[in-house]
Amino acid sequence: MSTAVRFALISDIHANLPALDAVLTDIAARPGVGATYHLGDLVGYAPWPDDTVARVRAEGIPGVAGNYDSTVATEAAHCGCRYEDPRQEELSHLSYAWTLEHTSHATKVWLATLPFRLDLRPLGGHASGPTVTLIHGNQVLNTVYVHAERTDDFLAKMGAAVGARRGDVVCFGHTHIPWHRVVEGIHYVNTGSVGRPKDGDPRAGYVLLDVTSDAAVHVEMVRVAYDVEQTSRAILASTLPDDFADYLRTGGRPRHTPAAPEPEERLQ
Ligand SMILES: [Fe+2]
Repeated sequence: MSTAVRFALISDIHANLPALDAVLTDIAARPGVGATYHLGDLVGYAPWPDDTVARVRAEGIPGVAGNYDSTVATEAAHCGCRYEDPRQEELSHLSYAWTLEHTSHATKVWLATLPFRLDLRPLGGHASGPTVTLIHGNQVLNTVYVHAERTDDFLAKMGAAVGARRGDVVCFGHTHIPWHRVVEGIHYVNTGSVGRPKDGDPRAGYVLLDVTSDAAVHVEMVRVAYDVEQTSRAILASTLPDDFADYLRTGGRPRHTPAAPEPEERLQ
């Protein structure tokens, strides 16, 4: 008899509580979702860092540390975000300072407990079924952007460094643009962003991942409409930069050029 395991993967919520609520409602209405996991960046850019973390904790959603989570937790000098545009760079600093100030000590302590990586075995572990690895950026740093323009060679090296084998699934977020590609039999899945999409579609994004007992893997990119204006109004009413409201309304700015490559030693 064939069995199937279905996971929902949510990433880059970025303190956007209405977007998270809409996604969790959508997941609850779908049949067969065995578990939901997050891939980090719970906070930053929107005005509900503590409430978002409280909701994730109340739902019992395990997950990994995004760069925003680990830098806020350790009160680092910078969120580790990178932008080509100087204005976006400036805004990222303002968001980080705001988030540091408005995230409670208790939330920071909890964010510091998030693991860097989770390895799941949907079919058990007693058999060599697929391993699903969750990270935020790449396998070394949660600040590395693994975007769709990365070469097959880049992904193959990443898979080898993860320890992935044919049929395995390597999942990550951080770029806020969803994509899925198979290289040398290994699935690479960027889950996109719940609370701050950058692909021009303002709807919240997440992934449904199905693994069947014959080791087949199916990836579905889901988009969910939510009350963007509720979040935008809350941003405008806060001391966060107003630009973040427009950013959500437009689904981020279109990318004109691929990000500059990372130094090679950071990618392995
Ligand atoms: Fe993010």
